[in-house]
Amino acid sequence: MKIILSGIQPSGALHLGNYFGAMQPAIEMQSQGQAIYFIADYHALTSVAQAADLRRYTFDVAAGFLACGLDPARTILFRQSDIPQVQELTWLLSVVTPMGLLERAHSYKDKIAQGVEPNHGLFAYPVLMAADILLYGSDLVPVGKDQKQHLEMTRDIAQKFNERFGPVFKLPEPVIREATAVLPGIDGRKMSKSYGNTIPLFGEENEIRKLIMSIKTDSTPIDQPKQIEGTVLGQLMQAVDPGEYESFKTYGSAPGIGYGDLKKKLFAAITARFQPLQKKYCHYQAHPDEVENILWDGAKRALSLATPIIEKARRAAGLAS
Ligand code: TRP
Repeated sequence: MKIILSGIQPSGALHLGNYFGAMQPAIEMQSQGQAIYFIADYHALTSVAQAADLRRYTFDVAAGFLACGLDPARTILFRQSDIPQVQELTWLLSVVTPMGLLERAHSYKDKIAQGVEPNHGLFAYPVLMAADILLYGSDLVPVGKDQKQHLEMTRDIAQKFNERFGPVFKLPEPVIREATAVLPGIDGRKMSKSYGNTIPLFGEENEIRKLIMSIKTDSTPIDQPKQIEGTVLGQLMQAVDPGEYESFKTYGSAPGIGYGDLKKKLFAAITARFQPLQKKYCHYQAHPDEVENILWDGAKRALSLATPIIEKARRAAGLAS
């Protein structure tokens, strides 16, 4: 059975972009092998400043995954920092990671270009990510396009370790989601926490309504057909309720229908789709012990996969074992 591993950073409130871009595809893949999904709280420490925020976002991602259909009986769901062995592996990999490899990382260069103060955690981010992947013997790693280079780096680092110390690590195959259309945020740019244009996955109804109503549209007069294809409203509707997309377009071309009417329809579609999930999410929020038990069980199962691999790596490198 193939090991399918992926991580999601708990760096803010979950939004529709997280759902369609990462969570839904991950949940769909859980039947194709042994899926292992973790909440990358060590990674999020590179951007989340407050301890209370990190703890909350980490819990919320776990509750969110469970609410959206992750099956904890089958899939291993755990918190990255519950397996601190990943830090030891990060060190073992660091000693074979060339500086030049890290210096070429787009994500690091982009952060610096945005004015983020460089620190070692940000620089070493790809080594920790390689350790995440290699520690559990992953075969397949589903990620978004933006993580492609990190996966290539993981393979390079694994190869360097194997060349120096012997064959310890399996080389993982990336599964890059090229096809997933990027979900636009309310301003038309990619939906992203850093643009402040997100629609929350589990927000208050009124908050979501307001955000949908604030989506920018053009000034087509009410009696003329509205442009839907390729617009923010169109792309969101296509993601949220693909079966209704054609009739949404037809509706928008009827005379007398304004953008406000289309927004109401989109809002109704979002509510219909996510309210059942939100109910489950609220259940987990009200019963944090259930979530903690699932994470604890996930960590136990993850550890049993990690233990033989970290031991093999320690022995290969010459550490006492
Ligand atoms: N860097 C990934 C992201 O921001 C999150 C992540 C951390 C990850 N470790 C991973 C993804 C290991 C896949 C495998 O999206």
